[in-house]
Amino acid sequence: MKLLLALILLLGIQNVNCMNNGLARTPPMGWMDWERFRCNVDCGNDPLNCIGEKLFQQIADHMAKDGYKDAGYEYVCIDDCWMSMERDANGKLYGNSTRFPSGIKALADYVHSKGLLLGIYGDYGTKTCMGYPGSLNHLQVDAQTLTEWGVDYFKMDACHADPTDLNDGFPKFTNFLNMTGSPIVFSTTWPHHQIKHGIKPNYTLIGENCNLWRNYADIQDSWGSVTGIIDYYAKEHDTLAAAQGPGQWNDPDMLIIGDYGLSFDQSKAQMAMWAVFAAPLMMSNDLRTIKADAKEILLNKEVIAVNQDPLGKWEKRVIQKNKVEVWTKELYNKNYATVFLNRRTDGMPYSFSITLADMGYDTALDHYSLRDVFYHKPLGYYGINDTFTATINPSGVVMVTASSN
Ligand SMILES: *[C@@H]1O[C@H](CO)[C@@H](O)[C@H](O)[C@H]1NC(C)=O
Ligand SMILES: *[C@@H]1O[C@H](CO)[C@@H](O)[C@H](O)[C@H]1NC(C)=O
Ligand SMILES: *[C@@H]1O[C@H](CO)[C@@H](O)[C@H](O)[C@H]1NC(C)=O
Repeated sequence: MKLLLALILLLGIQNVNCMNNGLARTPPMGWMDWERFRCNVDCGNDPLNCIGEKLFQQIADHMAKDGYKDAGYEYVCIDDCWMSMERDANGKLYGNSTRFPSGIKALADYVHSKGLLLGIYGDYGTKTCMGYPGSLNHLQVDAQTLTEWGVDYFKMDACHADPTDLNDGFPKFTNFLNMTGSPIVFSTTWPHHQIKHGIKPNYTLIGENCNLWRNYADIQDSWGSVTGIIDYYAKEHDTLAAAQGPGQWNDPDMLIIGDYGLSFDQSKAQMAMWAVFAAPLMMSNDLRTIKADAKEILLNKEVIAVNQDPLGKWEKRVIQKNKVEVWTKELYNKNYATVFLNRRTDGMPYSFSITLADMGYDTALDHYSLRDVFYHKPLGYYGINDTFTATINPSGVVMVTASSN
C-alpha cells in the first residue's frame, strides 16, 4: 500500500475536482456486514450472527490472521442496526448497549489493535433505512462523535430523507467531517436515492464531496443480482467512467463471494468484473466459515492488483457478441486487463476469438505478453493483430493481463 501511495504521489495523479480528504486513492477494501448479516438483532437466539460487537471482533480476528489484511482488505464496517433506538441525553448516537456492551470506541480500539480500520453507518434523513436515529439536524454532532470514537470510514445512507435536499445536505456533512480534522473515508448512497426519485445526479458535485457512492440497488445473494449491476454499469458507462478516479469511486456494492448464491465460476466472475470496474472491494460473507475456494478468489493478488491500479481507470465493454462480453481496463504504463465474461448457459465452455487490437489495446505498440490471472500462468507473446482465443465456462470468466514490456 505504501509503495502504491508513493507511486501515486510520484505520478502526480490527481483530479481537479476531488474530495479533499486525500483518502481512498485506490478503491477501498474491507468487509461489511449488510448483505450477509442484515438487521439480525436477535442476539438471544443467534448470538454468533447478530449485529453486535462479537461479530465484528471475530471478523477482525480473521481478517488479520487469515491473509485478508495482507492482501489489502483493511476496513471492518458496521452497517445499519448498531444504534440504540434513542440518542443519549447529550443528543449523541450510541451503540445498542446489549449488543455493543463495550461501546463503539472500544470496538474501534480493538479493530485498530489488529492493524485494521473501523467503518460505521448512519443516514442523512430522519431515520436510517431500518428505523434507527438519522442525522438530520444532528449533522455536526454526529461528525464529531465519529472522530471521538476513532472511526475511519463512514457510510451515510439517504432513507427517510428528502431527495431534493441531498445536493445541499451531503456537502454540509462533508464540511463537518473536514472540520473534525480526522481522516474519515466518506461513502454515500447519494446518487442512488436521487435516481430512484427521477433526479439526475451531479457527479461533479458528488465526486467533490465523497470518496465512494452507490448508484444502483443493493446487491442480493444471486447471480441475477450481480449481472443486473453489470448491465446497469454497462448502460451508464460514459457517465460513470467520467465520475471516477483516485479518491472518488462508483460503488457497485459488496462482494458476495463465499455466500450461498454464486457458483465457483460466478464467484470468479464477480471478482474479475469488480476488479475492472475499479470498484471498492467490500466483502460481505462469513470469514469464520468461508470455504477455501472462495477464499482463494478473494485473496487473488493478481486480480486485486488490477483493481488497485494507481490510474483508477474504468473498464470499457469493447465487444458484446454471441452472449460473450469483452471488458478491457487500461492500467498504469500502457498495460491492460481484459475480462471475457460468458453470459451463456448452454453447458459447454465457449471459445471466443478476438484480436488484441479489437480488445482495445493501443495499436501503436506491436506486441504484448499475456497472462492468465486466475491460473497464474503466462500465455505468451501476441502481436497487436494476432488472435487470442479464450475458452470460457458458462456464467464464468477468463481474465488476462497484458504487459507491453
Ligand atoms: C479539509 O479541507 C482542506 C481544504 O480543502 C484540506 O486541505 C484538508 O486536508 C481537509 N481535511 C480533512 C481532514 O479532510
Ligand atoms: C438493543 O437491541 C435489542 C435487540 O437485540 C432490543 O431489544 C433493545 O430494545 C435495544 N436497546 C435499545 C436501547 O435500543
Ligand atoms: C454540478 O456541480 C458542479 C460542482 O459543484 C457545479 O459547478 C455545476 O454547476 C453543477 N451542475 C449542474 C448542472 O448543476
